[in-house]
Amino acid sequence: MKLRPDSLAFALSNAARALASVEAGTALPRALSELFDGANLPPAARGAIQDLCYRSLRQWGIAQALVSKLSDNPPTPPKLKALLACALALLSEDEPGYADHTLVDQAVTACAADPELARAKGMVNAVLRRMLRERATLLAQLRQHADLRWNYPAWWIAGLQSAYPSEWERVLAAGNAQPPLTLRVNLRKATVADMLDRFTHAGIAAHQVGPVALRLARPRPVHEIPGFADGYVSVQDAAAQLAAPLLDLQDGMRVLDACAAPGGKTGHLLEIAQLDLLALDHDALRLQRVAQNLNRLQLQAELRQGDAAAKDWWNGQLFDRILADVPCTASGIVRRHPDIRWLRRPEDAAQLARLSAAILDNLWTMLKPGGRLLLVTCSLWPEESEMQARRFIERSGARRLEAPGQLLPLAAADADHDGLFYALLEKPRV
Ligand SMILES: C[S@@+](CC[C@H](N)C(=O)[O-])C[C@H]1O[C@@H](n2cnc3c(N)ncnc32)[C@H](O)[C@@H]1O
Repeated sequence: MKLRPDSLAFALSNAARALASVEAGTALPRALSELFDGANLPPAARGAIQDLCYRSLRQWGIAQALVSKLSDNPPTPPKLKALLACALALLSEDEPGYADHTLVDQAVTACAADPELARAKGMVNAVLRRMLRERATLLAQLRQHADLRWNYPAWWIAGLQSAYPSEWERVLAAGNAQPPLTLRVNLRKATVADMLDRFTHAGIAAHQVGPVALRLARPRPVHEIPGFADGYVSVQDAAAQLAAPLLDLQDGMRVLDACAAPGGKTGHLLEIAQLDLLALDHDALRLQRVAQNLNRLQLQAELRQGDAAAKDWWNGQLFDRILADVPCTASGIVRRHPDIRWLRRPEDAAQLARLSAAILDNLWTMLKPGGRLLLVTCSLWPEESEMQARRFIERSGARRLEAPGQLLPLAAADADHDGLFYALLEKPRV
């Protein structure tokens, strides 16, 4: 049986494939692009699949526990387990997006339509109907465990409790919320007031949340945002918009954006001043996204693929400013990437901190005396952020200038931003 692309069963069946791939260790954006590449799906179907995946991963801990509790044997193949977990995740939501019986019916239809899974349709039906009958008791029982109540791995919760004894619960809650859509206004093309006017005329509610930051009342696809296609605005979180202004940029400076892709901050650097900018990234594919972003903004930089911990890409000319947005666990942006908490391992922070330390030591040799380097991470783990900055200052003799340090994602009404870390370092003139 072929499922109609506009049916919930179709979306569930495809979401299960992407979720099985996340379970096998693939990041969700990659799992989705592998699913979509060449599949020629209507945009609405893609949107529905994506939405199911994001919502399921926010409930993934409890969904997995429900699968174990409600099925006699571990369901195989992985696609079947993922389909069951996806439906159970959606049935565990506090504000469900679908009527219970529609969801159960469509999950069973998705199972029946897949030759590999069809034999299990009776089991899927029985498990989901039992969930409907016993939902309140099952959820109350399982939610006695903190990791299942919060839907994070236990080690993640323990790490936040130890680093942020008074804020950890707010940080966990913010990580489970839907993120806002924040835009950066390109001051080369328009003022914030111009863009607010333009949005009002288009019937789009927005308000200012930073010097050039606008938040839309309701997230929407970029092609519906006036001025996006021709570079008047870019999508960028309010905390990420702090990076470029911290570097005190002047026209004519030679600047290195050392871990540049996909180029969110590269564009902002160039919107602020006329720079001789080199945008470097290890990943050639991601570097193409920098090129696309700069094209849209009609701004120019030299793009180069290379390892920021090596020198083979460098011509020996020192930089006035370096932006080091180093690779990290991304623990500060889990609300935008709900797969991250399930894919990371406790040892990842230490491993990534070692890589970033090597990057910092290397980049420091490329900075002019009196020049500034901005260390940025989107991590909440001190090992990658504050401890990293302190250890580097001890090794290098860098002078620490005023910068926000660790910004916690607390989803406060007046400060709803991602969890980024900033340390601004100046090289002594000797
Ligand atoms: C946090 S992201 C950068 C985000 C970007 N600055 C922005 O604002 O859009 C980190 C980037 O570092 C790159 N990266 C990882 N290891 C690297 C290395 N050794 N050298 C250069 N880039 C690296 C990754 O490919 C990734 O694009």
